Amino acid sequence: MITLVSKDIEEYSVEHTTKLSKHLNELIDITKETRDDYGMICGPIEGTFLHFLVMISKAKRILEIGTFTGFSAQMMASALPDDGELITCDIEESTSAVAKEFFVKTKLDKKITQKIGPALETLKSLQGKFDIVFIDADKENYVQYYKRAMELLSEGGLIIIDNVLWGGKVLNPIEETDKAISELNELIKNDNKVKQVVLPVRDGMTLVMKSA
Ligand SMILES: C[S@@+](CC[C@H](N)C(=O)[O-])C[C@H]1O[C@@H](n2cnc3c(N)ncnc32)[C@H](O)[C@@H]1O
Repeated sequence: MITLVSKDIEEYSVEHTTKLSKHLNELIDITKETRDDYGMICGPIEGTFLHFLVMISKAKRILEIGTFTGFSAQMMASALPDDGELITCDIEESTSAVAKEFFVKTKLDKKITQKIGPALETLKSLQGKFDIVFIDADKENYVQYYKRAMELLSEGGLIIIDNVLWGGKVLNPIEETDKAISELNELIKNDNKVKQVVLPVRDGMTLVMKSA
């Protein structure tokens, strides 16, 4: 798991954060056992923070780009009211199947709809408005995801973007992925129609609020 703080501080913070449910710990264990890329799970601190954001904002409709095995989707959906809805997109069938198994196990499947396929295509087919959009998929498409998310977002809604500091590589972007994230960070910085904060949590998260 990528984190910008020391391992000791990260562990201390996790220890003092509300414990995860049995099912979420089981999901992390299964993902670790079966996937080399298990570090893609956003983890307990960011996940719990997402849960808080959904509760505080009283969001009812959420769009997630990047399901993986469904950890962040569960963290957010469990904070939605009974009539709330979360749509989550991913291109990969095998991880989406694991996610689905756990959505059913936790009965969150009633609130969660999975869309399998390239997220840009899925986003074209969706209708707004969403109260929260969480962007956590392929970085090369971040700018396009952001632009479409803005169209689908309600006034006063929130876009949350993960990995915006990209292990510090945004300070000196070299690879295409570094440049894509850096481009989005500049786009948001220069957009006077939004308010944003870049949090150096885990690998960096930006919260962007669309003006009401
Ligand atoms: C960082 S993981 C998401 C982690 C998840 N949000 C969590 O915290 O548990 C990124 C996901 O984006 C998906 N992805 C990559 N390219 C995609 C694309 N073009 N369309 C949809 N999903 C894509 C990958 O399959 C992967 O599951």
